Amino acid sequence: MSGLFITFEGIDGAGKSTHIDGLARAFHAAGRQVVLTREPGGTPLAEQLRSLALNTPMDPLTEALLMFAARRDHLAQVIEPALARGDVVLCDRFTDATFAYQGAGRGFDLAVLAQLERWVQQVDALPAGRLRQPHLTIWFDVPPAVAAQRLAGARAPDRFEAQPQAFFERVAAGYAQRARQDAGRFARIDADRSREAVWDDVLAAVRGKGYLA
Ligand code: TYD
Repeated sequence: MSGLFITFEGIDGAGKSTHIDGLARAFHAAGRQVVLTREPGGTPLAEQLRSLALNTPMDPLTEALLMFAARRDHLAQVIEPALARGDVVLCDRFTDATFAYQGAGRGFDLAVLAQLERWVQQVDALPAGRLRQPHLTIWFDVPPAVAAQRLAGARAPDRFEAQPQAFFERVAAGYAQRARQDAGRFARIDADRSREAVWDDVLAAVRGKGYLA
């Protein structure tokens, strides 16, 4: 069985979490070993970087470097070994989030992010010049106003959740741009619907790729 790398993206409040858990159960029921993980995070070092990135004020380059530093450790310690074993890796956010949040949201230089992506996602298992990328990215697309309503009154916001709606408008546009640039990898889900309707589309996206029967 070959490894499978699926990522989940969307602005804060898009409602990814329950569907990630649901897909983990579906793959498990199909007899696959599943690694459920997240970015920034997924290793002891990357979780420390996450807590810094989400809670400590810093300039945009520092923020981008922390995201990619966490990603490199996560790839080396968790994602690559899991894919080598043939596991299914379900990862809550990956590099598309960096392009959307640090790039589109903060306005950080996309060419620098692309260079970091090339350094960080070059892995031993792939021939030189090929980068580790998700096989499938499920993008929960929701209007920022809807997402803001869902988040209102939830726990204390972190540095990203505390941003104004205009920030999330830019992040959403950043995701749309990434999706256009890599249309074959992205499955866009209209997440402004009931949980059941969204789940049906999530399953259909994974089945459509032949990853689940
Ligand atoms: P999130 O995935 O929403 O987790 P939770 O549901 O626990 O809040 O939080 C991660 C935050 O980090 C989210 O606001 C997006 C941000 N982020 C970036 O800005 N850049 C990145 O590269 C990644 C992976 C996340």
